[in-house]
Amino acid sequence: MASVSSVRSLREAGCGRTRQTRRWTDRGLTLLVSCILFGATAMSFAQASAIRYDAQSRIFRIDAADMSYVFGVNETGDLQSLYWGRKLAPGDSFPAAHSEPGWGSFDLPVNTTPHEYVGWGGGLYYAPDLKITFPDGNRDLVLHYVSHSIDGDTLRIEMKDISREVYVHLEYKVDEATGILRRSAVVENKTGQPFTIEEASSATWNLPAASDYELRYLTGRWGGEWGLQKEAMHPGRTVLESRRGSTGHQNNPWFAIERGDSGDQDHGNVWFGALGWSGSWQIAIEQMQSRQVRVTGGFNPFDFAYVLKAGESLQLPDFYGGYSADGIGGASRLLDRFELSAILPEAPQPRPRPVLYNSWEATGFNVDEAGQEALAEKAASIGVERFVMDDGWFGERDTDHAGLGDWWPNPQKFPHGLKPLIDKVHSLGMDFGLWVEPEMVNPDSKLYREHPDWVLNFPGRPRSELRNQLVLNLARPDVRAYIFGVLDKLLTDNDIAFLKWDYNRNWSEPGWPAVAPDEEKEVYVKYTENLYSILRELRARHPKVEIESCSGGGGRVDLGILRYTDEVWPSDNTDPFDRLSIQNGFTYAYTPGVMMAWVTDSPSWMNDRSTSLTYRFLVSMQGSLGIGANLNKWTPEDFATAKALVAQYKEVRETVQHGSLYRLISPLHGSEYSATESVSINKDQAVAFALLHSSQMSYPYPRLYLRGLDAGATYRFHMMDGQAAAGTPETASGDYWMNAGVQLDLRGDFQAAAFTLERTGAQ
Ligand code: DGJ
Repeated sequence: MASVSSVRSLREAGCGRTRQTRRWTDRGLTLLVSCILFGATAMSFAQASAIRYDAQSRIFRIDAADMSYVFGVNETGDLQSLYWGRKLAPGDSFPAAHSEPGWGSFDLPVNTTPHEYVGWGGGLYYAPDLKITFPDGNRDLVLHYVSHSIDGDTLRIEMKDISREVYVHLEYKVDEATGILRRSAVVENKTGQPFTIEEASSATWNLPAASDYELRYLTGRWGGEWGLQKEAMHPGRTVLESRRGSTGHQNNPWFAIERGDSGDQDHGNVWFGALGWSGSWQIAIEQMQSRQVRVTGGFNPFDFAYVLKAGESLQLPDFYGGYSADGIGGASRLLDRFELSAILPEAPQPRPRPVLYNSWEATGFNVDEAGQEALAEKAASIGVERFVMDDGWFGERDTDHAGLGDWWPNPQKFPHGLKPLIDKVHSLGMDFGLWVEPEMVNPDSKLYREHPDWVLNFPGRPRSELRNQLVLNLARPDVRAYIFGVLDKLLTDNDIAFLKWDYNRNWSEPGWPAVAPDEEKEVYVKYTENLYSILRELRARHPKVEIESCSGGGGRVDLGILRYTDEVWPSDNTDPFDRLSIQNGFTYAYTPGVMMAWVTDSPSWMNDRSTSLTYRFLVSMQGSLGIGANLNKWTPEDFATAKALVAQYKEVRETVQHGSLYRLISPLHGSEYSATESVSINKDQAVAFALLHSSQMSYPYPRLYLRGLDAGATYRFHMMDGQAAAGTPETASGDYWMNAGVQLDLRGDFQAAAFTLERTGAQ
């Protein structure tokens, strides 16, 4: 098996509380595999399970949280979607699936019937899930249901081509708490001959015909990620994608579709999804001529080919989908909960992010033992818990022209290695983190001089440099072994608690000359599989080490990398005002619990904008707080301000990072204001951050109506920073804070305030 990664076996080792598997074939129940662990009977299993199959109608139904998902096997043998939305009553039933009639003489039923998973064959004009060219030139692939099994929270379905021994193993795993489904697929070649996969998606999600769908997605570029787009859907195709070899800043693999514009964050029907893949990817959102919507996601078919040899299988990425009846706000809260409880390496209970200091914006490449120790002392004095030395510590790294690939301490800057600095950081009560960029090499490095053949390249063609660096071809086993080896040694030789794993360019000339020409394009899969396997193995060997995914900011953030990394760096743009819209977009798809947010110097290097230290803190305190300023330039007043705010942050960080986020006022579209509120899961604490961009015409700051509180409980109001209007009660009910609200006294430009509500009892 070339590419079924061990992800699958790891998953299976920990999967399913129920150990009873029923296998059905298209002729009925032919096999009962029971490894009954908890003494459950077949009947009690059927009753307890969130996944049911009705043999008579051949319908599958998945229920969890507030969601039902229903599909059936139609008379042709296709898997046909029937319903995805708000949870239905247990007794509600559906008639058996019947394929839709085609349209005129131009569309066969394959274009009008909503398929769960469809091969390119017959007369399909929409994005297929799978497209194959066979050695004889035949390219027709028609997949039909063969059998299925239900194992607790997981449904597995086997599909097969109508004549060839091509199998697709679909998997649906449902998260009980959120109703989010993880769909994936494995393609298996039992034909006895190799064939070439030209397009491979993990799943298709279907929505019924409607003319009032609104689509949201995320766009950006380096320094300007997480732009939230919203547009009315119309027949045709919207493609979200990366062709860059990694996730990319330009689109993020996330979408949300709302039926009708409820005009309120927390009301309305929203379907959303996210792809767990950190290589080139594509999500095609198509409104068909019938106005049905289908969303297909997986490997990007651009420049793609994967030769699946006889007997081999190919694992496709996980594609997650969910439904919320509580609007886009509810959708993002479900995703947050799911990421924290089911995706992150420490799920279901990830540790809160420590307050960290990072040296990059203070010192650039100019790091050395004495300078870093001096910064560490200052960082410790304000309550920082983790000190991270960024770029510049290794090889001949004085600028970005040299050193990448040579992962040993620079002897001039660290004559005694990293130990003295690490010991100093520990003696100050902090743990130590280090920047690395393992997948890259500067031509000016020992590594490149020894192994020029290790980079992605087309022989005889230019090797385009970006930031003076080339991409190591991680698909090569020797490159994988080298990168794993140097990192394993670094973590074994040094007491390092945290790696900031950077990745500062995208691919060009993505050739892999060491393999047969028809296998070169497999680099798009094998590179990313090896990246995941290195991260997985490093974590297994160094279980205390946490990792941040950074790619020149937010260029590699997705649910694939988040299975192996504890946090991400959303953007290199640390201007606090820009950061408000960056953080806003980010949190539609990802939890604030992974969103690193640094307080840096003013004026910001990005926009030359000046803001107060308090403003910068109150922006960053809405995520996982870090400090990236040059502490050597701070005044005693700055240290006092920072120390007080860091202490306040620690009081609310569990709520900010792991609570429920409500967006009270959006920072987008030239808004004068923005405000967020986070509520702890038990609703005992809420914290709100209010930002004023620029006062106009002497209008007061909008009254803030809190959300998500326990209506009948009493909450004590506490101003963390800034001023509330005279007369704000000290205590009042949840109902009061949600309906009468809070009036803040905020005026001027780039002003900020924050307050908490603490439950004192029930009324
Ligand atoms: C890009 C990252 O996003 C920055 O934070 C910093 O680590 C630099 N790379 C270092 O080269």
